[in-house]
Amino acid sequence: MGLIFNKKTSYKGILPVHIGIIMDGNGRWAKKRGLPRKFGHREGAKTFRTITRHCSNIGIKYLTVFAFSTENWNRPFDEVTALMALFKQYLEEALCDFRKENIKIKFLGERSRFPQEIRTLADEVETASEDSSGMVLNIAMNYGGKDEIVNAVKLIAKEVSEKKLALSDISKETFSNFLYTCGQPDVDLVIRTSGEFRISNFLIWQAAYAEYIVEDKLWPDFKTDDLNRILELYSKRSRRFGGV
Ligand code: IPE
Ligand code: IPE
Ligand code: MG
Repeated sequence: MGLIFNKKTSYKGILPVHIGIIMDGNGRWAKKRGLPRKFGHREGAKTFRTITRHCSNIGIKYLTVFAFSTENWNRPFDEVTALMALFKQYLEEALCDFRKENIKIKFLGERSRFPQEIRTLADEVETASEDSSGMVLNIAMNYGGKDEIVNAVKLIAKEVSEKKLALSDISKETFSNFLYTCGQPDVDLVIRTSGEFRISNFLIWQAAYAEYIVEDKLWPDFKTDDLNRILELYSKRSRRFGGV
């Protein structure tokens, strides 16, 4: 855990090392305005940019955002197409911006299902930002916590069958190294916007002991001050990890 010192709010408290955000409520935001859902995603993408920069500025070390789940392919074709277009736009931007901002970008999830264009861009963004020493931004795209665990089990089974790993070597720590978040600390705080009390298959291993904070605001309405307020709430939580 680190200390937060935000010049703007002069708030001091315990800062989570790793934050996970379930950016939910884009569709409802658009519906409330009588707009197609894709307009909500466009606004949500703006919020994502603002919140990411804010996290980096206040000294968050790891931020994982849920951008697209393995279940989101079930949405109407038009909506999925609109989301792909937004990803593409963002990735092109990220190639310049986040490199300048010293953010290291990683994608969590199975990218083979994405259009080739997006896969190539995602590879380029990861490589371009590889040497950044600032915040690690994990973008969970076609991500599912259960898939991630099954994938880790397969990789471990392969290593065991090839005698590269002994059964006795398998521990919680070694298991973590086979997840997409290999080498990263567990999640301290999960924020979900739009008032839904669900995990929706997000970081189910890494967030096993995370603090959960559900925010009523829809993701496009979420502001940096909301994050500051949540961080203050988090710093008052008593994390006991089963102790007293
Ligand atoms: C989150 O907003 C964005 C994605 C899942 C891609 P939603 O699109 O789920 O918005 P609601 O929950 O329907 O309002
Ligand atoms: C979770 O939101 C996935 C993302 C935010 C990308 P959903 O809107 O897809 O989850 P459910 O359907 O409410 O569980
Ligand atoms: Mg939703």
